[in-house]
Amino acid sequence: MNPTESQHLPDLLERQAAWVEHYRLGLRVSEQGAVVSVGDGIAWISGLPSATMDEVLVLDDGSQALVFDLNQGLLGAILLRDTERLTAGTTVRKAGQPLSIPVGEGLLGRIVDPLGLPLDGLPPPAHNGQQRLEGASPAIIARDFVHRPLYTGIKIVDALVPIGKGQRQLIIGDEGLGRSALGIDAVINQRGLNVFCIYVLIGQKRSTVVNTIQLLREHGSLEYTCVVVAEASALPGLKHLAPYAGCAIAEYWMERGRDTLVVYDDLSTHARTYRELSLLLRRPPGREAYPGDIFSIHAGLLERSTCLNAAHGGGSMTALPIVETQQGDIASYIPTNLISITDGQIYLDASLFAGGFRPSIDIARSVSRIGGRAQHRAIKAEAGRMKLDYLQFLELEVFTRFGTKLDAAMEKPLRRGRLLREILKQDRLAPLRIECQMAWLVAFNDGLLDMHEPDKIADVLEPLYRRVTESGLVLEDGREAWSRAVLEWLGKQAE
Ligand SMILES: Nc1ncnc2c1ncn2[C@@H]1O[C@H](COP(=O)(O)OP(=O)(O)O)[C@@H](O)[C@H]1O
Ligand SMILES: [Mg+2]
Repeated sequence: MNPTESQHLPDLLERQAAWVEHYRLGLRVSEQGAVVSVGDGIAWISGLPSATMDEVLVLDDGSQALVFDLNQGLLGAILLRDTERLTAGTTVRKAGQPLSIPVGEGLLGRIVDPLGLPLDGLPPPAHNGQQRLEGASPAIIARDFVHRPLYTGIKIVDALVPIGKGQRQLIIGDEGLGRSALGIDAVINQRGLNVFCIYVLIGQKRSTVVNTIQLLREHGSLEYTCVVVAEASALPGLKHLAPYAGCAIAEYWMERGRDTLVVYDDLSTHARTYRELSLLLRRPPGREAYPGDIFSIHAGLLERSTCLNAAHGGGSMTALPIVETQQGDIASYIPTNLISITDGQIYLDASLFAGGFRPSIDIARSVSRIGGRAQHRAIKAEAGRMKLDYLQFLELEVFTRFGTKLDAAMEKPLRRGRLLREILKQDRLAPLRIECQMAWLVAFNDGLLDMHEPDKIADVLEPLYRRVTESGLVLEDGREAWSRAVLEWLGKQAE
């Protein structure tokens, strides 16, 4: 024993004596509850007095649940995993950790459920850590203005309703009008653009799930995408968590300086699941029987999408939530909520779809409140006035239907409007690179397409796009270079 230690010895002995004096013999109790009843994806549990909201519970049969309601004397919990042995009387303990999902590059190319378990028959994804499902949204001081474009490859969107990285843009419309098609195209277009994508499928039929994954795979998009699935037959608890899981996976990358894109397909189903769970938990229903907090549920989720500033790594999470309307009614509860939460919307219209205008985006009712700032200035210079001109053309066209005699000065805008409408039509699964978009914009604005019949315009543009791709011309090359090149290419074609 060295001298310093011997000096401390009396001190040590004194402390030990104090500890012995205060020692109380007792049992350390770890709280244990029991299932009182179970059904419809919900378990009522008694005897966990210290449990708090959103706490994970593990049940003795191997099931897992999340505390969702504390108001009824009993605990209401939503099941996240269940077994056939789960019955009344099953013992319940607190897991002692928040709900989280494995995150990291290992999730690219994978299909997972909202708890991160593989659904693609492969081993669990390798991961770099865990991210909380219900994280806080980034602080205001960590955020930047949306200032960089996110290209969807859809002509109407990139030119007339542009989206920026970190923006939340709603895709809204009736079922079957091509909302998912837009989301899938936007993901496919990120190929080679250094954006990690998350496609969240909430409560979709198995065939839709398989189809979506198949499309992403065929277009080589799975390698930079993670698909989160809670299909229609999944536990309602999992359907509820699916968007949070997708968000958490993206958030991990955003916090590390990456650009990400999340498609939530769709939040109407998510809202209905939340309503179902809330009614089962006997919460008071509000408008359209949705619980009062459905607004803050969706706001909280979409608040986590943002563009971080340089000091915080400069990453971003762009969100494309999809919502369903009935007969085009955007004034119903969930659509209005989401319209007010997001930074703009892409509105799909049934009569446009029926009329063969696809993607059936109603340009008049679609807006991007912040994307204009993020649009590349070369594109903005071409497309800046186009939306207004097109809307004026639509009005003018209505007049012609009444047989009103128009003076000759009206002929040109009508002709060009009809031409533009044909140009804006686009097949699904054919997103267009921004350079090709620049080419048609320049060609159209320079009047180089005016001599063509609208219904033949695709035959003129296809070869033009090929030329652009071969040439390697970029947006930064300047207006003059573009005009010259486009004129030359179209001239060659005409020969
Ligand atoms: N740009 C398009 N051109 C042609 N058909 C399209 C286009 N976009 C969507 N469709 C077709 O419309 C149908 C519905 O599309 P989908 O994306 O599943 O709609 P939603 O998700 O709104 O229910 C599909 O059969 C799809 O092939
Ligand atoms: Mg769909």
